[in-house]
Amino acid sequence: MQYSWQYDEFKSVGRDYSNPSEVKIYDASHADFRDIVAESQQVLEELAVGKADTLIDFGSGTGTFVLEAARRCRRVHAVDVSQAMLHLARYKAAQAALTNIEFHHAGFLTYEHSDDQADAIVSIFALHHLPDFWKSIALARLYSMLKPSGQLYIRDVVMESTNPLSHIHTFICNQERAGGDFLREDAEGHFREEYSTCDWIMDELLMRAGFVISRKTLVDGVIGTYWCTKGELNRE
Ligand SMILES: C[S@@+](CC[C@H](N)C(=O)[O-])C[C@H]1O[C@@H](n2cnc3c(N)ncnc32)[C@H](O)[C@@H]1O
Repeated sequence: MQYSWQYDEFKSVGRDYSNPSEVKIYDASHADFRDIVAESQQVLEELAVGKADTLIDFGSGTGTFVLEAARRCRRVHAVDVSQAMLHLARYKAAQAALTNIEFHHAGFLTYEHSDDQADAIVSIFALHHLPDFWKSIALARLYSMLKPSGQLYIRDVVMESTNPLSHIHTFICNQERAGGDFLREDAEGHFREEYSTCDWIMDELLMRAGFVISRKTLVDGVIGTYWCTKGELNRE
């Protein structure tokens, strides 16, 4: 159900991914500090998804992950609030002749899943677009879209509680070294304007939504990765 007071997830927070010129430079600018194809393949390998499986990617961006997922899964749902991102991802899927990806102009709070419950849900560098309360609503929605024992993989900027300001400062310096002014400003804008949270809040949000965290890493005190499974919800 949508409410008049619901958070507007289609409005840009931080970088404006509705702007086609931002989208055009996305893959090249991220290549300065990450290999998105290699990291996607590694995640898919660990999720061990196969030809019978359905996967949803929230905040699918330029589509690199969904293209890799589509080569292994039965069906992939790519969900993003940016039409410009979806446009580029659709183009890349057509170029690769992949026909098992469904693209949805929607987000964590608005996507309605009408396929079978998913075997896996993935979201990479996207959940921080929502304030914490709305993250909790989003995670409850993701929980309902997953099969029993289905897997949830989340990677995002998440702050360790010890020395967060020093970790953030070091991260911004590293980004500047990797990609000059562009990546420094990108990182500064992230912490100034977006809703990345503390790792202990993220832990609690996931557990209260019913997920079991099977593995968690926090690299350089700011890049959090969560491997979760859908657990039993205690509604007492
Ligand atoms: C930093 S990009 C990450 C893209 C991709 N997952 C990656 O790993 O490169 C964040 C993406 O999340 C999308 N996004 C922002 N808010 C969203 C929301 N509420 N629901 C779904 N996607 C959202 C943006 O449009 C953008 O494509």
